[in-house]
Amino acid sequence: MSKLGTYETVKLEHENGITFVVMNRPEKRNAMSPQLHFDMNDALDDCIMDDDTKVVVLTGAGPAFCAGQDIKEFFRASDKDPKVRLKNRRASHGWRWEKLSKFPKPTIAMINGYCFGGAFTQVSACDLAIAADEAVFGLSEVNWGIIPGGIVSWNVVNVLGFRDAMWYAVTGETFTGKEAAAIKFVNKSVPLADLRATTMKLALALKEKSPVAYRYTRDAIRSTRGMTVEQAADYLNAKSDALKTGDPEKNREKAMTQFLDEKSFKPGLGNFKR
Ligand code: ACO
Repeated sequence: MSKLGTYETVKLEHENGITFVVMNRPEKRNAMSPQLHFDMNDALDDCIMDDDTKVVVLTGAGPAFCAGQDIKEFFRASDKDPKVRLKNRRASHGWRWEKLSKFPKPTIAMINGYCFGGAFTQVSACDLAIAADEAVFGLSEVNWGIIPGGIVSWNVVNVLGFRDAMWYAVTGETFTGKEAAAIKFVNKSVPLADLRATTMKLALALKEKSPVAYRYTRDAIRSTRGMTVEQAADYLNAKSDALKTGDPEKNREKAMTQFLDEKSFKPGLGNFKR
């Protein structure tokens, strides 16, 4: 039975094992209010528990992906209340980084339109990202007198090249989905009319991977970034051993049999039969 719920500011759409998690305040360009942060934490937890959700696609309702933090409800409303600010900040960091960057299922950000400021964090946290050519991105913080806070600066410097990160942060200049793909903030961009179908095709391909191998692989790529080569070798050897013994589906053995004994599968060219 589906474990997906309903929320005030988030909508879930389920199709063929893929759950689209939609930030749903289109009249506010999906700006992130505290309520949206609370709802996103709940919605992502529900997606973890829902056995029918194999892949999560994060997107926005209407003409925007997400216009960043809600300047009125996230900032001004708690300017004089540090306790409320802290609670909201923890909820904001919780889903956008802690949950998404280590999500136990594949995640794709599908950037359908405006993507500003704080929204760069959830794009960076998703495993993969596809944008509409027409989408508009911007690190607009400098335009209204603040810094790319939360962990936006850390993320852009990690995902983008240093020169691009600096350029867009200090100028506040916008860039399109096509440009986002060229500087590798997203994996690729396609015309808006093709965005959902292209994302769905990718999601269905990820759905076919061994879930445990996918998760270990994603963690290997994310976690080794800050390590020395010695630490990485140690970590990866330990993870390889853990995967070998900890995979309930025993996929490694199945795949070896299909390649070495049955000769029914070419690992270089596609998936084994699970
Ligand atoms: N915070 C609060 N409200 C917002 C935000 C936001 N980040 N973005 C849009 N809204 C609201 C507008 O105030 C407006 O509300 P109203 O109808 O009650 O007046 C509504 O959403 C629609 O916005 P418009 O500006 O009318 O929509 P338009 O399509 O013309 O422009 C755009 C969209 C470009 C996204 C513009 O709204 C904008 O510049 N928003 C702020 C983007 C930004 O700088 N975000 C970074 C915030 S800082 C951070 O994230 C750390």
